Amino acid sequence: MPNKATDSFTLKNNNGVEIKFAAHGGRLISVKVPSVTGEIADVLVGYDTVEEALNGDLFFGALCGRYANRIVKGQYVLDGKTVQLDVNNGPNHLHGGVEGFNQRVWNVEEIDKDGCTSAFKLTLVSPDGDQNYPGELKVKVVYSLNDRNEFKIEYLAETSKPTVINLTSHPYFNLSGDLSKSAEDHLLMLNAKQFTPIDPALETCNGEIADVKGTPMDFTSEKPVSDAVNSSFDQIKMVDGLDHNFVISDAEEGLIRAATLKDPKSGRSLEVYTDQPGIQVYTGNHFDGSEKGKGGAPIDKYCGVALETQIFPNSPNHENYPDAVLRPGKEYQHTCIYKFGF
Ligand code: BGC
Repeated sequence: MPNKATDSFTLKNNNGVEIKFAAHGGRLISVKVPSVTGEIADVLVGYDTVEEALNGDLFFGALCGRYANRIVKGQYVLDGKTVQLDVNNGPNHLHGGVEGFNQRVWNVEEIDKDGCTSAFKLTLVSPDGDQNYPGELKVKVVYSLNDRNEFKIEYLAETSKPTVINLTSHPYFNLSGDLSKSAEDHLLMLNAKQFTPIDPALETCNGEIADVKGTPMDFTSEKPVSDAVNSSFDQIKMVDGLDHNFVISDAEEGLIRAATLKDPKSGRSLEVYTDQPGIQVYTGNHFDGSEKGKGGAPIDKYCGVALETQIFPNSPNHENYPDAVLRPGKEYQHTCIYKFGF
């Protein structure tokens, strides 16, 4: 039986961590985590119910694809052929287009997975020509949780024709658990000596890679998010906060820690491990409080921090960026672990 959009599922462990998601977009609905004093709170920015989530911002907590992040003018050349995707974000293609994977009803099946207290397999078939992407893409995502408080997302995909691919997940975290508060006081560490600057003319990256050293983009030692978002650095001013892809150092070594986010008050922390070369850090700069989220709290800018593991924005147009091409007979693989500490 195919799933309904509003069907929801819950992962639980023995330490009080509970993660609820919906079949629609595989979107995370709530992420409940204890504090150091054992107080359980929802640390995921979003909406109280699945129904509200489906009427709200459809990127919140969702699985994004076929190509998460931006492709300039929705265009790239693959094997000599120009592919024209739709343009759904100013001049660019964002998060897979008008009907990206965040808007699909995924098939969800509970599975047994070694060492995990809960696990689910989510599958989706993206037909040949979906949003103009060539090739039928079969996607499998496994959500699992264990007693080390690791919420793991494993992405696998196969294609029938060469295509580009970049899957990610789009949760905004506010570890205070008080979703009416800004996350600016959170401490952020990024294992990144470089980032890919935004070209104002393209509204995304142009192939450049820049050093973070000596700029507010330097999170190699932990510091408050506010130090960066309130700075007058041109890259930050341009997008009114952080909305940048950071180049993970030593990414070729496999699963490594890319980021740590901490809420100093509750003592909750989040470590992000991945095998991907990049991580998009987005502080929800475009929210303006006009929309109400959980508990009726306004969804305002800097309400949470999204840490999206991925390859670089606009990679299909830049040979010096990681290769986004998936060919028949090869498997796309991506692992991201959100590990909670308390
Ligand atoms: C991007 C933002 C975009 C947001 C939409 C993020 O991944 O970096 O630029 O506005 O997604 O939800």
